[in-house]
Amino acid sequence: MLLVFLGPPGAGKGTQAARLSTKYGIPQVSTGDMLREAVAAETEVGLRAKSIMDSGQLVDDDTLAELVRDRLAQADADGGAILDGYPRNTAQATTLDEILSDADSRRVDRVLFLEVAEDVLVDRLSKRRACPGCNANFHLRFNPPSDGVHCDRCGTELIQREDDREAVVRDRLGVYRDSTEPLVDFYSERGLLARIDGEGDIDEVWDRVDATVRQ
Ligand code: AP5
Ligand code: MG
Ligand code: ZN
Repeated sequence: MLLVFLGPPGAGKGTQAARLSTKYGIPQVSTGDMLREAVAAETEVGLRAKSIMDSGQLVDDDTLAELVRDRLAQADADGGAILDGYPRNTAQATTLDEILSDADSRRVDRVLFLEVAEDVLVDRLSKRRACPGCNANFHLRFNPPSDGVHCDRCGTELIQREDDREAVVRDRLGVYRDSTEPLVDFYSERGLLARIDGEGDIDEVWDRVDATVRQ
């Protein structure tokens, strides 16, 4: 099962992808998390990506293609994967088809498009706290860590992402509209798109996501 989460920054892609991954036992492949790990480890990719990510722009397509190709070739992705944050433009969507067909003629099964209004997104991102240890996401109001400071899953001190500052959030929303939103039509024309109301609390959205995948 190869699922793709599509949606603006803060829509809940990471939150819902993590739940699906637990339920179906297939990995969540978050290109944002992979790039942040590369930045933290100061790899060649990380050094190149840091300033681009901090300003909310997209890292180049070739770098992403390599990351995703390598990740999907790992054994734990044999039974499928949940892509969170890839593809992000039509060139990446075309590349993804190539990566999948090269690997045992797999293909995208379903695209889960989380729809959330812009004011709700800003609210979610401004109070997000992320775990640099295990990539869990919290929200100071909607999904608070028990002690307000540390990750409930692994105990690491939570951070605010550099690109969750208000000015960068606005730029990310612009990049989403210009580059990523065209994928709604791209996948709709291929009959793969499922529109999911991404508003409401995390459990409500999960019920909709889960029902869509079981269809
Ligand atoms: P990435 O990490 O993918 O960021 P994003 O797409 O902007 O998405 P977010 O992670 O901000 O949001 P999300 O939808 O995962 O929401 P979440 O579940 O955390 O990418 C970061 C950067 O990496 C990019 O800007 C780019 O530079 C680079 N990059 C990554 N992929 C790339 C690619 N393919 N090509 C090029 N560059 C790439 O939820 C948000 C908050 O809301 C959390 O606090 C959460 O607890 C809370 N929340 C979630 N659901 C709910 C709910 N229902 N109700 C209330 N609160 C909720
Ligand atoms: Mg995310
Ligand atoms: Zn953690």
